[in-house]
Amino acid sequence: MKSQKSIWCMCAAALLAFGVVLGAAASSPKAKRLSAYDPQVRNLLAQMTLEEKIGQMTQPEYGPVLANPGDMQKYFIGSVLSGGDSDPQEGNGLAPWTDLYDKVQSEALKTRLGIPVLYGIDAMHGHSNVLGAVIFPHNMALGCTRDAALVEKIGRVTAEEVRATGIQWTFAPCVTVPQDIRWGRAYEGFSEDPALVRLLGAAAVRGLQGDLGGRLDVLACAKHFVGDGGTAASSEGRWPGAPVGTGGVWLDQGDTRLDEATLRRIHLPGYITAIQAGVGSIMPSYSSWNGVKCSGSRRLLTEILKEELGFEGFLISDYNAIAQVKPGDYKGSVEASINAGMDMAMEPSNYRVFFETLKGLVEEGKVPMSRIDDAVTRILRVKFAMGLMDKKRPQLADRRLHKTFGSAAHRAVAREAVRKSVVLLKNEGHMLPLSKESFRIHVAGKTADDIGNQCGGWTIRWQGQGGAVTTGGTTVLEAVKAAVSPKTQVTYSRDGSGAAGATVAIAVIGEKPYAEYVGDRKDLSLDAEDLETLANLKGAGVPTAVLLIAGRPMILGDALGQMDALAVSFLPGTEGRGLADVLFGDYKPTGKLSFSWPKSMDQLPLNMHTVGGGKQPLFPYGYGLGY
Ligand code: BGC
Repeated sequence: MKSQKSIWCMCAAALLAFGVVLGAAASSPKAKRLSAYDPQVRNLLAQMTLEEKIGQMTQPEYGPVLANPGDMQKYFIGSVLSGGDSDPQEGNGLAPWTDLYDKVQSEALKTRLGIPVLYGIDAMHGHSNVLGAVIFPHNMALGCTRDAALVEKIGRVTAEEVRATGIQWTFAPCVTVPQDIRWGRAYEGFSEDPALVRLLGAAAVRGLQGDLGGRLDVLACAKHFVGDGGTAASSEGRWPGAPVGTGGVWLDQGDTRLDEATLRRIHLPGYITAIQAGVGSIMPSYSSWNGVKCSGSRRLLTEILKEELGFEGFLISDYNAIAQVKPGDYKGSVEASINAGMDMAMEPSNYRVFFETLKGLVEEGKVPMSRIDDAVTRILRVKFAMGLMDKKRPQLADRRLHKTFGSAAHRAVAREAVRKSVVLLKNEGHMLPLSKESFRIHVAGKTADDIGNQCGGWTIRWQGQGGAVTTGGTTVLEAVKAAVSPKTQVTYSRDGSGAAGATVAIAVIGEKPYAEYVGDRKDLSLDAEDLETLANLKGAGVPTAVLLIAGRPMILGDALGQMDALAVSFLPGTEGRGLADVLFGDYKPTGKLSFSWPKSMDQLPLNMHTVGGGKQPLFPYGYGLGY
């Protein structure tokens, strides 16, 4: 199956081919150090051919590799991924995903040495590619909770749901420190504040990995190393062929222009604590640091990460990122990236070319055998630590875990996260909490009854999708109906019409889903539909509480004056009841902003590092009211 993303990437690859320039570590307390497995690793390494070693370093997407029967064995594939939109052909349910994993793993076990594959996926806020999984709030929202124990608990539940499909690796947590909310990946970051990212990133690693060896543990991946959230805005897009939604401002995959001391101060702390928590993999960034691609930087990958910070796990390149190191020169890119310290290559459909290219480079002496052995050692350490090399352990999925997939107990953890992540920004005349005993509550707005908007990007689809079909869960409208007393009437209109006569209105407005690249924006004002909803409610003379559901702070302008109360939830996920808990006072709001909130676009980039002088936010970092 060819994903939307693969199609874009193929366009990019085609342009590249024509020479177009595109734009000591302590483990978690319970776990052993990864290097403790080196004796076993050395034994195995001694039995491996060059091809078998390179196979461990090669990660295709499942679609292309299964489409070529025999390739798993011929290329001794060591890892497979499902990237955005790379779903099972039979659909996105739990059974097809589990069957897919089992099929891929069975193929890997047929290779000469029978080394199991690591199957990787973006379980960024729950096992978010799979229908019926619990979808947790995105990281920006979790940042508002300041609650490391909660983030760890979310990691545990996510790991269990991922393992229910057999998959053992998630490309999470994202420990980016976004400095400019125009970036469409801002919501993937816990905070603009490195101190908060330090705390919560490590908690997520502990939750996901446990001690790494258990049947409910998954390998975590801290990403995108380093400075992905610090790129400078540019007018030049970097993904040829991608739909343009940005109004001409691009930050994704850009260049972070900072001296080393500042890079370390803002963007490195999350990696230091993730390594201390025992993270087994790290993904170098598509972005550049002062014009040099991170994926080809020996300074960053080997000197800082492996030598100075003592990272003992392995580095996985981002999706087709290696080709960007030297645009138009694939062989040079592979040489530069592997020699810089990249250990495994995410080459969704180009895996055969990667394999042959790297083999050729070793034979020509351009990539030393010691570098290959180091890369494979790092990958195998993780496989040993995870128990994958234990012949007595079943390698296929444990389907008994299907029983608790999407369970009420898992949803309860998400609901707790939702209510703790809501931030109350305005509450004129103590409008909130609302009474459950009202004559009539009118619910309105494009996101009031839309689970897809509520979940945002990286949910079922790569870019997310609006609408009820996205996945199961509770919308705000359903949650309000469930919360109020049976005597209270709840009415609904998407545009706010028909509100006249209601006691109060709840308007649920904000952003529609997006993910990387597509979500870069020049203008973060409320859209025309939201303004019309607010105007209709005002016209009806009904006091209005606004719930803004978005992937970042938005420019409120004059609309703020029309809101009697305002609370924000940065993409809460499937458990809308957590929002009703706050609206009706079952939970008194405790959330504090994890990002500074600008008054106007011309203040951007606005964050705790740029604030001051004439630049005063509408709501500062850490702001949040109580009842
Ligand atoms: C993203 C990564 C993601 C990978 C695999 C890339 O485009 O930058 O964050 O893990 O795709 O889906």
